[in-house]
This record gives sequence, C-alpha cells and structure tokens, in this order.
Amino acid sequence: MFLCFIRVTITYIFQVQFIFMEIQVFILLIFSGITFAAADLSKEKCPPGCVCRKRDVKCYALTDFPVNFPPLTTYIFMDEMNIQTIPPNSFLGLEFLNTIEFQRSNFGSISTCAFKSIQSLEKLIFFKSVIGHLDKFAIFNNTGLSTIEILESKITKVSPFAIATLDNIASFSVEDTTIYDLNTMSIVNVSGKELSIVGSVFKTVHYMPFVFGRFSQVKILNNTFEMLPCGTIDNLLVAAVDNNPLITGNAIMCDCGISYIHKIRDEKQKELLNNMYCLEGGVINSQRIVSEALSSSLPCDQKNKATLTKCRTQEVRKIPTLVCPSYSHGGVYKSTENKNGNSASSLSSCVTVLILTIFVSL
Ligand SMILES: *[C@@H]1O[C@H](CO)[C@@H](O)[C@H](O)[C@H]1NC(C)=O
Ligand SMILES: *[C@@H]1O[C@H](CO)[C@@H](O)[C@H](O)[C@H]1NC(C)=O
Ligand SMILES: *[C@@H]1O[C@H](CO)[C@@H](O)[C@H](O)[C@H]1NC(C)=O
Repeated sequence: MFLCFIRVTITYIFQVQFIFMEIQVFILLIFSGITFAAADLSKEKCPPGCVCRKRDVKCYALTDFPVNFPPLTTYIFMDEMNIQTIPPNSFLGLEFLNTIEFQRSNFGSISTCAFKSIQSLEKLIFFKSVIGHLDKFAIFNNTGLSTIEILESKITKVSPFAIATLDNIASFSVEDTTIYDLNTMSIVNVSGKELSIVGSVFKTVHYMPFVFGRFSQVKILNNTFEMLPCGTIDNLLVAAVDNNPLITGNAIMCDCGISYIHKIRDEKQKELLNNMYCLEGGVINSQRIVSEALSSSLPCDQKNKATLTKCRTQEVRKIPTLVCPSYSHGGVYKSTENKNGNSASSLSSCVTVLILTIFVSL
C-alpha cells in the first residue's frame, strides 16, 4: 500500500517538474520507502531459529516447522528438530532448492505431499532421525529427485503410496535403519539405477510393499526381516531389472510363518532363500539357513498359523491414480507467504530503479 502511494507520487511529480519542495518531500518519501522495504526483507530473510548464509539455510532444535525460506534457497539443513509434522507443501515456491538434509531429528509424521512442487530437488537425506508416519504421497512426483538416503534412522510406519512416482533415481539407499511397519504398496512407481538396502531391520513387511518400479542394480545386504509373510520374497526380486541382484546376508524368522516357502517353485526365489539366515530369539544364527530350517519342522504358535492361512497370492495389476490432494492452508503454513516474499523483493528493486531515474532527470 505504502509503496503504491510512492508510485502515485512519482507520476504526479513527473508532471510538475522541478518544483524543489515537492522533490524534497518525494526523496524523503523514497528513503522512508527504502527503510520500509529493507526492514521487511530482513524479516523475510531467514525463518526464526534458522541461520541463512548465501543460499543455504540451517535450522537447529526447532519445535515448529519453519516457514518463509528465502526464495533463492538451494540447500536446507535441519538438525535436532523435534517436530510434530512436516506439513504439506512445506517447500512451495523454492524453485532452486536442490538438497534437503535432516539430521538427528524427530518427526511425528511427514505429511502427504510435504515436498510437493519442488522439481529442482535432487537430494533428500535423513540421518539419525526418527519418523513416526511416512504418510501417503510423502515423497511424491519430485521429477528431479535422484538421491534418497535414509541412514541410521527409525520409521514406525510407511503408509501405502508413501514414496511414489519417481523415475529419475540414481541412488535410493536405506542403511542401518529400522522400519517397523512397511505396508503393502508403500513404494509405488519408483524407478532408477541403484536400490540399496543394507544393515536394516524390518519388523513387519506386508504383502507386496514395492510395486511398479524397476532398478537396474539391486543390493539387499545384511538385513533382518522379522516378519516376512507370503508375497514379500518374490517382491524383493521384482525390483531388479538386471536379473542379477546382490541379495545376501539377510535373515528372517524361521518359524512356521515361513512355511509357505515350501510352495515356492521359482528358482531365483529359492536361491535367495538359500542365502538367508535364520533369526532365532532376535539374533542371526549364521549357522542355519532358511532352506535347512524348512527341512525340519518349524515351531508354530496360533499367531503364526493365522498368518499362514491368510497368505495371499494375487498380484496388484493396475496402478491406481496418484494425485496430491489440494490443501487449504490454515494453521502454520500459508501458501501466500512465499508470494509476499517475492513481491517484497521485486518492489524494493523497483524503488531503487526509480531513484536512479529521478536523479538523472534532476
Ligand atoms: C508413474 O511414473 C511415471 C514417471 O514418473 C509418470 O509419468 C506416471 O504418471 C506415473 N503413474 C502414475 C499412475 O502416477
Ligand atoms: C555384511 O555382513 C558381513 C558379515 O557380517 C560383513 O563382512 C560385510 O561387510 C557386511 N556388508 C555390508 C555392506 O555391510
Ligand atoms: C508431477 O509434476 C509435474 C511437474 O510439476 C506435473 O506436471 C504433473 O502433473 C505431476 N503429476 C502428478 C501425478 O501429480
């Protein structure tokens, strides 16, 4: 409003040329306009609790998810955050954002479409972090995303469609991470070069967690799958395009929950099982492999019998329609905030240009 008033004054002054009184008043106005714009910019400059330097933003130990990142930000690093949720559209308007890195942080959930509309995003890293829920479409349709790293972290629940529609992945790695509940169709339509799952613990993996995706290199090493029901082993192989995945050193619980393995005919799957160790009392028994366990009778309790009878064998044949829902931005996040940021900076440069013009005409 104020800046608009200055513009009106300028037009007026051009009409009544060289009236010095008015020019003085005008210059005063211009200068107060500059301070106004500058104050506004510095407020916009960096989210509270973060440090902004060049095009990097680093945030430490916050309990609310920061808003108003500077529009030119390329790198966001967050350390020791303790946050209920990463809301939808959290990084909207950051057209140059290349890398987001979370470290030693605790998130109740990562919302649906949290990373929406950052096509420039190439790297997403979680290190020593704890995530409650990875909601559906949490990481979805980031066309530039090439690296996803989840390292030494814990995720309670990966919802169906949590990671979806990414086809440019150079490296997707999960290392030394515990995932408690990996749902059916958690990872959908995700493809690329290398998928590597190393040294991780999967408490429960549901039927077909991974669908409609292909990786040219698959490494699944030294993981434990505490519950690996029917329809998951074959799924581990589905991802591998090269037909030569490196799947070794993994362990699964050798109780009657894996009796379905007797029925497996596929050679590749059998081979995979011969490479798997038995988990006994939560510990890998490196002397005992699954195929050997199967030749003796497997210990059965009622719970395991139930999972056994529930074994499903149908495939998911058709990819459902995946679209980010639209949000009305109430509460913490307001989509207009980035727009204001842009207009404030463009207005201030517009004022600067105008001063130069005036001095020339004087
Ligand atoms: C699957 O991914 C491709 C490439 O990213 C995309 O073009 C297609 O729309 C996706 N399919 C669905 C159903 O989302
Ligand atoms: C897998 O485990 C073996 C035996 O413990 C170890 O020698 C190897 O380095 C591990 N590989 C990776 C990639 O962690
Ligand atoms: C994915 O993102 C692109 C580019 O922003 C957009 O054109 C497309 O509609 C999106 N696809 C889906 C399935 O949301």
